[in-house]
Amino acid sequence: MGLSAGQQSIDEIDFKAQLSREAAETDRVMGELLHSRSHIPDRLKEAMGYMLLSPGKRIRAAMVRWVCRMLSGHIGRDGQIAAAAVEMVHTYSLIHDDLPAMDNDDLRRGQPSCHKQFNEATAILAGDALLTLAFEALAAETTNPQTAVQMIRMLARAAGPEGMIAGQMADLEGEKTNGTLEQLRSIHISKTGRMFAAAAGLGAIAGGAGEDQIDLLADFGLKIGLVFQIADDLLDILASSEQLGKTAGKDSRQGKLTYPSLVGVQRARQIAEDLTAEALEAIAPFGPQADILRRLAVELLKRKK
Ligand code: IPE
Ligand code: IPE
Ligand code: MG
Ligand code: MG
Ligand code: MG
Repeated sequence: MGLSAGQQSIDEIDFKAQLSREAAETDRVMGELLHSRSHIPDRLKEAMGYMLLSPGKRIRAAMVRWVCRMLSGHIGRDGQIAAAAVEMVHTYSLIHDDLPAMDNDDLRRGQPSCHKQFNEATAILAGDALLTLAFEALAAETTNPQTAVQMIRMLARAAGPEGMIAGQMADLEGEKTNGTLEQLRSIHISKTGRMFAAAAGLGAIAGGAGEDQIDLLADFGLKIGLVFQIADDLLDILASSEQLGKTAGKDSRQGKLTYPSLVGVQRARQIAEDLTAEALEAIAPFGPQADILRRLAVELLKRKK
């Protein structure tokens, strides 16, 4: 399926309104999880909440929720917790990504990054705490142990040493080197694509999907996750810090291996478009129910922040 098929119905979706509804619900659940744990030391809780409830886009959480609703018609407790857990793991990854030892960025979501607002040690611990709380919440708050284990395994694999952390390691090792396109694709799939795949996969589990459906949706997630990171690389050179809420132009200063640095802006855009078309193929079997996911894919391709 090309990018224009079914365009009319997906154009009619009020994407912004739907995303902000899912974001508000996600924030409510994340706030509830954070505040119901009554023994978190005040300063740690403050640092966790500072970044967790700051104005991120909540794209991964929305993906969990849209997939879940597409499959089951509603979002029950499992879908709510899964969306919150994915967003918590994502937020931890940003806090650590910004640390001086990693990308050394002072700005995140339009405000001082966590280590600037608090200090490095507190930021490290706030990241650790969000990561751990995400898995505790999946274990304790989902409706049955089998679902919990399935979700925990999927999210841990995506975020762990063979997934996002592998990607972060390779991203740092790739600084100031001449990589190949194959290498770069693998870095981006690991550091970003895998978390998007897990978001779709967790939504599928929460929605009661079977293995085949989970695989198709995870494949969709992986591909739009790769598109998301290509767009992130493009925005780093094409957008301003004000627009992004994080420091623009850092990738080239740090010698990061990125799509535009390796293949140029035009070719990077073309690769993102081709991947979006592939992602749309993966969800063709879901019919019109998947229109919100189609619109999401198109939105990520042309996002400005
Ligand atoms: C930033 O993710 C990190 C990448 C994987 C590119 P987002 O752009 O989703 O960040 P927030 O959550 O909206 O702040
Ligand atoms: C980050 O990639 C991916 C993560 C796993 C956090 P970037 O380092 O490009 O993300 P930004 O640009 O700082 O948000
Ligand atoms: Mg980084
Ligand atoms: Mg970074
Ligand atoms: Mg970036």
